[in-house]
Amino acid sequence: MDETATLTSGARLHVDDLHRSVSSRQVAAMTFLNEIVAEFPAAISFAPGAPYEPFFADIEVGPLLDTFAAARRAAGLSPETVRRHLFQYGPSKGIINDLVAAALRADEAMDVQPDAIVMTVGCQEALFLTLLTLHPPGSVLAVPDPSYVGVTAAADALNIPVHPVPDDGAGPDLVALRAAAARERTAGRRLRALYVSPDFANPSGSRLTLAARHRLLETAADLDLIVIEDNPYAFTAAADDRLPSLKSLDREGRVVHTGTFSKVAVPGARVGYVVADQWVESRLGPPVRLAAMIAAGKNAVTLNTSPLAQAVIGGLLIEHGGSLAALGRHKAEQLRSNRAVLLERLVHHFGEPDRPDARVRWQAPEGGYFVQMELPVEADDALLRYSAETFGVLWTPMRGFYLGAGGERRIRLSCSALEHTEIVDGAARLVGFVGALPGNRR
Ligand SMILES: Cc1ncc(COP(=O)(O)O)c(C=O)c1O
Repeated sequence: MDETATLTSGARLHVDDLHRSVSSRQVAAMTFLNEIVAEFPAAISFAPGAPYEPFFADIEVGPLLDTFAAARRAAGLSPETVRRHLFQYGPSKGIINDLVAAALRADEAMDVQPDAIVMTVGCQEALFLTLLTLHPPGSVLAVPDPSYVGVTAAADALNIPVHPVPDDGAGPDLVALRAAAARERTAGRRLRALYVSPDFANPSGSRLTLAARHRLLETAADLDLIVIEDNPYAFTAAADDRLPSLKSLDREGRVVHTGTFSKVAVPGARVGYVVADQWVESRLGPPVRLAAMIAAGKNAVTLNTSPLAQAVIGGLLIEHGGSLAALGRHKAEQLRSNRAVLLERLVHHFGEPDRPDARVRWQAPEGGYFVQMELPVEADDALLRYSAETFGVLWTPMRGFYLGAGGERRIRLSCSALEHTEIVDGAARLVGFVGALPGNRR
């Protein structure tokens, strides 16, 4: 059917009558990116932050469900109970909380009880529900600028005002955070929480040192903020370079930690979790865990996370000795080698990025999916189209990740989903693209 024909009949809707969050600048930027990726299937794409697909070949859903079910039966559940857990509506908190709690204890030195965890539909739902629960009207969320669009989009959908805090690559600027809290207080609002991704953030690649983690927790205590820690890329650090999560350093109960199986396992399972062990007082009865309140929020969204998907992830955890680190090990190695190839190729083609006459500059993160590069010209949608059409190479403009000014000339390069040969070829295409930009000195 001709799509325009539908405009002549039925309800006449205008985007101005819809919720603002579904047509925000950030959403438009992501929609454009998805469209251009689809339009140029032959291009080499440094755009999506997606896992490497050959890893999916190892996933056999049936045997994983069997592994999980057998473990539950071995723990004393009847076959009927196990089937009910898999196929019936389930508890909003989830059915693999015990496995996740044990993994977090083993891998992250995080001492959490299963009832302090809510299993969610990806980390995205964990963020959405955490923001929903923590932000009554009049409260504000602080985010590093730039930030992961999923968190700002969730805040937007929930009508939560967002206060950007500059992040120059080492985490949010704490002086600016204090100023933000003061400014919000003056405006009659309360800065309630700070979102932060301490290891190799998306899109900046920024990482907090150990000292910066302690300083951030001290500042959060001074300002009475909850810290929402989102750390999907921490597992990509080299084994001798892991830093403790904010949650494991948290002595005051200030940190709510969100996690995901999208990067260490498969995004298609859509399984994530939130650790919220704080106690919430109430006039109605004894204190309850914040996790229980977050789980209550699921009634308005997804009711409960697919038990089948949780069981597949449970089976994967069991097969990897209950360890998130073991589950993510191969993926972390692949990412490290991909990043090394990309960084080596960039130096090969462009020279060292800190040369005074460098045509493009980039930073070299020690983990994560992303390398940020600065071009000599504005990196807008038109330039991306030119890059795709003329040179067959795609990247993500950074501007869409900023709430304030910034990122105009920056692009994000992701090498997570590519083969080494594609990275080599893609880097060569970038050379052609950069060489054709105005003002080239090479
Ligand atoms: C920083 C960050 N947080 C959360 C998510 C959402 O992950 P999930 O697939 O678990 O919803 C992503 C996805 O790329 C991300 O980069």
